[in-house]
Amino acid sequence: MSGLTPPDLGSPDAPFAPLPDPRPPLAGPRSAEVVVVGGGIVGATTALQLAERGFEVVLLEAHRIAGGTSGRSTGKVTSQHGPIYSQLDQRHGRDTAHFYASRNEAAVHTIAGLVDRYDIDCSLEPVATHLHALTSRGAAQLEREATVARSLGLPASLTDDAPVPDAVTAALRFDDQRQLDPRAYVAGLAAAAEGHGAVVHERTPVRKLRPRRGGVNVHTDAGVVAAGHVVLAMLTPWPDLVGAFARAHPSRAVCVAAELSGAVPTDPSLGVDGPSRSTRRYVTDAGTELLILLTSGWRPGANDERDTLRELADEATHRWGATRITHHWGAMDQVSADLLPMVGGAPGTSHILLATGFSKWGLTGGTVAADLLAARIAGDRVRTPFDAARLPDLRGLAKMTAAGARVGYELVRDRIPRPGVRGGVDQVVGTPGEGRVIATATGPVAVCTDADGVTCALSATCTHLGCTVRWNAAAGAWDCACHGSRFAPDGQVLAGPATTPLSPRDLPGR
Ligand SMILES: Cc1cc2nc3c(=O)[nH]c(=O)nc-3n(C[C@H](O)[C@H](O)[C@H](O)COP(=O)(O)OP(=O)(O)OC[C@H]3O[C@@H](n4cnc5c(N)ncnc54)[C@H](O)[C@@H]3O)c2cc1C
Ligand code: FES
Repeated sequence: MSGLTPPDLGSPDAPFAPLPDPRPPLAGPRSAEVVVVGGGIVGATTALQLAERGFEVVLLEAHRIAGGTSGRSTGKVTSQHGPIYSQLDQRHGRDTAHFYASRNEAAVHTIAGLVDRYDIDCSLEPVATHLHALTSRGAAQLEREATVARSLGLPASLTDDAPVPDAVTAALRFDDQRQLDPRAYVAGLAAAAEGHGAVVHERTPVRKLRPRRGGVNVHTDAGVVAAGHVVLAMLTPWPDLVGAFARAHPSRAVCVAAELSGAVPTDPSLGVDGPSRSTRRYVTDAGTELLILLTSGWRPGANDERDTLRELADEATHRWGATRITHHWGAMDQVSADLLPMVGGAPGTSHILLATGFSKWGLTGGTVAADLLAARIAGDRVRTPFDAARLPDLRGLAKMTAAGARVGYELVRDRIPRPGVRGGVDQVVGTPGEGRVIATATGPVAVCTDADGVTCALSATCTHLGCTVRWNAAAGAWDCACHGSRFAPDGQVLAGPATTPLSPRDLPGR
């Protein structure tokens, strides 16, 4: 988030351990039994699981291992995914709720086991996670959630106390959960996969997939990797084989980390009513205790994230007694319309598998997905409620329709020229960190001035499917609200599904 660095918001990154030195990019064509595309929790865990089973694995990461959403998450490893179990039970029935609960609870222990087995230095600590309510309505919701969660075998208990500075009306506690440094954990997984013979290439974006008899050709700038199977672990996987672009929507959220005047509570908590905030403690290598405070989400570009970060900083100061905001950052995840992740492939494309739609709970969810994907590649044909080819339920369909309308709006937004074009441009030129979309007779133009004072004008039409991008001043980047692509001020792709940069345009009115 290089566009916003006032001293009161601390450094523009998460406080986690720095990434190790990058591995070299792919240098030329080759083959592999499995190519994993993407080095977040899903990709790194899948690569490790397959390498452990003896598969020849190549992992290709466009930027850095753990540099995507996984490494910018808040690192809570829990089966408590908000008050989800009462909703799952109601919408999908007891068996699906049980599958979700048992798999995610098992993933908490899988992650702890992998940390132990591979000696991953990622500040893993045992915690009890909490949901807390501030109103009687929220308390009633937690009572319902507790009943369902307990019936599913989860370690859930109601209490009247939560690790937050407010008077709560009720809290729901899950015991024997974990929190960790997600960046160090995912980097550790990739190193463990390499220890089993997997080959990892960073700064190697995959540009194209071409199915061929018995496998898939994976195209990169350095040549083709001929793969038996491909796992799309890209957060927003493409090609869209299972309609995931319609069945999930991108949701951003921002965080601050702060030093407090007193001790930071060890256990995490998430509010179910009032301001929806999620908190956890993180202890730096130097032993400094930080509170991490996270918002709920919004479509990329729908919020001025500078305002939200300032609100968070204010809240940290006045509600929690923060003495200094040390860090601020943001990230995006794909939220599934029917609450369930999508894992697997489409009928007829058995060589290409994917996982997405973790709805902000992908550390355990992604671990579950990796397990299912690795089993599938190993020949296990078990159908699960997470099957990517499933049909969404009715409420999911209604959400998809609303999301489709939103995409329609983003396709036509800022296409009609309005008076005052020059004024709009003038406010951007020479003002570092400012950007806006200007409607012109030849289409919308994205104009921004980067942190170094360089003004760029680009086509504002997202190169994925044509929605109009929006300036994210807090991140100093162009975001697309439709499926979550992100572009640098000079148009380069920072996050997919877009793979082509925004093209340069003349500065409007000049
Ligand atoms: C603010 C925030 C906080 C969160 N906190 C938690 C939490 O505490 N606990 C929890 O369980 N979940 C949390 N989540 C959710 C969780 O972080 C995500 O669900 C999970 O990280 C998704 O993992 P992933 O591997 O699918 O994606 P990513 O980690 O984003 O990895 C995808 C990778 O694919 C790469 N890639 C994309 N396209 C290509 C290409 N063409 N070629 C090569 N590589 C490519 C990207 O560069 C990226 O590195 C949080 C989410 C957010 C937004
Ligand atoms: S149109 Fe799909 S990400 Fe922009």
